[in-house]
Amino acid sequence: MQIFQDPYQIQQELRALKCAGKRIGLIPTMGNLHRGHLSLFKLARKHCDVLVGSIFVNPMQFGANEDLDKYPRTLTNDVKKLQSIKVDYLFTPTNEIIYPLGTKINTSVEVNRLTKRLCGESRPQHFKGVATVVNILFNILMPDVVVFGKKDYQQYLILSAMVKDLFLPIEIIAGEIIREDNGLAMSSRNKFLTEQEKDKAAALRQIISDCGNEICSGNKNFMQLKKQAIASLKEQSFKVDYFDICNAINLEDATANDKQILIACAAWMGQPRLLDNLEITLN
Ligand code: PAF
Repeated sequence: MQIFQDPYQIQQELRALKCAGKRIGLIPTMGNLHRGHLSLFKLARKHCDVLVGSIFVNPMQFGANEDLDKYPRTLTNDVKKLQSIKVDYLFTPTNEIIYPLGTKINTSVEVNRLTKRLCGESRPQHFKGVATVVNILFNILMPDVVVFGKKDYQQYLILSAMVKDLFLPIEIIAGEIIREDNGLAMSSRNKFLTEQEKDKAAALRQIISDCGNEICSGNKNFMQLKKQAIASLKEQSFKVDYFDICNAINLEDATANDKQILIACAAWMGQPRLLDNLEITLN
């Protein structure tokens, strides 16, 4: 695996490969790679000739009181993991490279509507930071295909909308959620859980899936289901950011006529804020 910090050097390499007809696949990450990330790389491998990863902890997507400084940085280990699955190129830029003028840069990318719901309510600047950095990475690395994980379902939807709205010549593929043995969705932030909290955190998936079972068996009283789930989460010592039952395409509150539904939740267990979701298709 070749590792580049310089955007122009990696771009030159990738441009030559593209000119030779190779299809470039990209997995943008913030590092601290786990099995969830590796599954995205493996999926991308099936859709491209040249597999590229990026590791950049993007300051622009963290709010003032969020965990930017604490975000785990484990580059040496990450490199070993990517080498073991035969990733071809890794891009590891610095803040100064991506944001030479600081994060109050002149140009930013904002996706409307979808960014206002779910995580956007408590993290109002987050998706602007995500869309901006992902655009910067797309412009440097020129991927033909990109895989985003569905644990961050809203992010996947927003970036798919961005690609469509801006006519970017990129195929977006979604990777399934990868889970720990107890059902907890894999996340870089899980390492902040104590063993005891990790056990308790498994309830998040259970509560979402109980709600999903209710909906599948015909219960459309979404308000009531939401209340019930929030009460169960609190009982299991979660601090709830949101628990929503929404239309899986536009993220608006689900109505009785919706066929594609997303149950999405963000909740703190101890220090980390955990995300999980479930997609449901009704007949
Ligand atoms: O999902 C992530 O790790 C980040 O939001 C991303 C897409 C790499 C942008 O910084």
